[in-house]
Amino acid sequence: MTILRGRVLSFVSEPHGLDDAASYRYIEDGAVAIEDGKIIAVGEFVSGGDAEVIDHRPHLIMPGFIDTHLHYVQSQMIASYAGSLLEWLNTYTFVEEQKFGQQGHATVVASAFYDELIRNGTTTAVAYCSSAPQSVDAYFAEAEKRNMLMIGGKVMMDRNAPEALCDTAQSSYDDSKALIARWHGRGRGLYAISPRFAITSTPAQLAAAQALVAEHPQAYVQTHLSENDAEITLSMQLYPEAPDYTGIYETYGLLGPRTLLGHCIHLNHRETGVLAETGAVAVFCPTSNLFLGSGLFDHDRLRQHGVRVGVATDIGGGTSFSMLRTLDEGYKVLQLRGQRLTPFNSFYMMTLGNARALSLESTIGTIAPGCAADLVVLDSSATPAMALRMQTATQLVEELFLLQTLGDDRSIAEVYVAGARMKSTLGGL
Ligand code: GUN
Ligand code: ZN
Repeated sequence: MTILRGRVLSFVSEPHGLDDAASYRYIEDGAVAIEDGKIIAVGEFVSGGDAEVIDHRPHLIMPGFIDTHLHYVQSQMIASYAGSLLEWLNTYTFVEEQKFGQQGHATVVASAFYDELIRNGTTTAVAYCSSAPQSVDAYFAEAEKRNMLMIGGKVMMDRNAPEALCDTAQSSYDDSKALIARWHGRGRGLYAISPRFAITSTPAQLAAAQALVAEHPQAYVQTHLSENDAEITLSMQLYPEAPDYTGIYETYGLLGPRTLLGHCIHLNHRETGVLAETGAVAVFCPTSNLFLGSGLFDHDRLRQHGVRVGVATDIGGGTSFSMLRTLDEGYKVLQLRGQRLTPFNSFYMMTLGNARALSLESTIGTIAPGCAADLVVLDSSATPAMALRMQTATQLVEELFLLQTLGDDRSIAEVYVAGARMKSTLGGL
């Protein structure tokens, strides 16, 4: 048994305002006991006993961060200069992703990608691979090496992209099916059936995705929805029968509680209702939405209609691997919408909120007995500017807000994955 000592913070429900102290548990001199990769107890630190104690004081111990939407194959094309989504996809993304037909390339990038997740305190993520099955093998093999709970899948795309990147409805079905058999439930890996978006899938391919979902109800589904005006217009031209963009995925049975929909910025009333009814998750990707000029996510409207919400980096449309940077930009997006995101809500979203979005809250996202020991240790004074600001912070909520506003990978003092120390054992690039 190992005991981590520090200030322990974990959420139990979605906070309703700044004063909702019942939504979290904070222990000033806390202890998290770990055995066989799991949390076995959490409470006040008590000295004595012969367990190994790792003292992280004065740092904060929280559940590891969860990122519900990103593209590992875009790790080397962050910061690609483009006016908007479709130009960015055609000019850079569809070129970059072709490199992943080579297993060697996929393996090298996957390893660097996981290093970056760990450096930023992210212990679980949901990623798109490329259309090449080898890119999926590299992704899950690396997760298995590090014992990380990772979700991902092969992108299905059979039109409106370079030929070298396109599969067919049949081959995407066959390859996805084989990958599900190989990786879903192996170690901590879980599969996501991943039609890229309506523009790059023929009706035949969405029907193939529908068949996969029906045959593998335990798998996740991920796609993109309503990110950009030109994308919406083209989608409606390609699916003229559909009532709206959401209606395309609805027709093919792709919406359910295991479905993650990236962006969801420009949804009409009917679409919002469909998401609420089906339990599909709208994933907020603030750095990407700002970088590509896509629009401002309407968090409060979606929540008021009962839509489940997640938050994510969307690397490489997104500009940072850090969930702290991501929620900082998320805060600003919502400011422009006239909405307030409390610091408690931000940290809830990165942890328990995203675990709930994945229906994995009994395993990850909280510090509770029986959960995986996937943890992050946060240093609120990691930089001189942070240390200076910390001198005037007297409350937990202020500390969280400065961590989000000023923090990045430098604030991640340590990361544990299934009880194993990860960050301090990372090599350099
Ligand atoms: N829509 C379809 N593919 C993509 C992608 O790779 N990134 C983003 N941001 N949107 C998409
Ligand atoms: Zn995306």
